[in-house]
Amino acid sequence: MSNHSVIAVPKVQINHVGKVFAGAPAGTPPALQDINLSISDNEFVTLVGASGCGKSTLLRILAGLEHHSSGEVLCNGQAITGPGADRAMVFQHYSLYPWLTVMENIKFSRLLRIKRENLTSSDVEAASGRADALLNLIGLAKVAHAYPSQLSGGMQQRVAIARALMGRPQVLLMDEPFGALDAQTREVMHDLILHIHRIEKTTIVFVTHDVDEAIYLGQRVVLMAPRPGRVDRIQLVPLPTRRRQDMKHSAAFRELRAEILASIRESSGMATDLDLLEKLSQQSEAI
Ligand SMILES: Nc1ncnc2c1ncn2[C@@H]1O[C@H](COP(=O)(O)OP(=O)(O)OP(=O)(O)O)[C@@H](O)[C@H]1O
Ligand SMILES: [Mg+2]
Repeated sequence: MSNHSVIAVPKVQINHVGKVFAGAPAGTPPALQDINLSISDNEFVTLVGASGCGKSTLLRILAGLEHHSSGEVLCNGQAITGPGADRAMVFQHYSLYPWLTVMENIKFSRLLRIKRENLTSSDVEAASGRADALLNLIGLAKVAHAYPSQLSGGMQQRVAIARALMGRPQVLLMDEPFGALDAQTREVMHDLILHIHRIEKTTIVFVTHDVDEAIYLGQRVVLMAPRPGRVDRIQLVPLPTRRRQDMKHSAAFRELRAEILASIRESSGMATDLDLLEKLSQQSEAI
């Protein structure tokens, strides 16, 4: 083999990962069982599945906020043992500091990481430059000095994203970040996060309940199933890399949506419930 051959290390590698929560009643299926997933540098992967299938648990393990019970999880080939500056997380609820302005919220987490006595004026200057660039990227330069309570939910979540990006994480982990927003704001956020993904070249792992969101954003959609939490299948999204809202009406999009919804209904036991409802409504019509 040539010395020049380069084997690309995946950005994130999940091998045979299992998770059993301590104190779970005997007989409870594992929260995660034998999860295998390899995510490339600059990929955008979405995780979708019924409630309780372990999406948040898997994301928290990647963030280093939760320990897995078995298997291994690697970032750049290194085992993940806790939180690190190479990974940042954005949650559903906009966890901004209400007493700080937008600009201060974005800068704050970065400056916090540098011990006060080691803080130099060039650190502060670099942080300000980066925060300015991020404010422009998320389109909120005009409200840099406003407080979170003066912003809409969508604007607050943009600030939370900018704050997560401040330390230039290689991997952005997002747990239903747009779940609390209305449908129109969510569409704007979708195009914004795709733009950020192109500009910042981060790898994004994005958890959602919303199948349309999973398809529109993801280059691959990872379908999870519950009891035990597992990967049901991994679906490559057959859409051009550069997404446009009207693609949601394309045949490829609609077919994939129908397939994924059917899989989720099947694997979560919802299909049985729907059958039962159907039978009950037929019976009541007959009465
Ligand atoms: N801290 C915990 N202690 C015990 N069990 C937990 C804990 N966190 C999660 N679980 C269990 O692990 C399973 C997976 O939960 P998780 O929150 O990862 O699911 P999810 O797919 O994110 O669900 P949702 O879509 O509702 O957010 C569930 O059965 C849940 O009850
Ligand atoms: Mg969750």
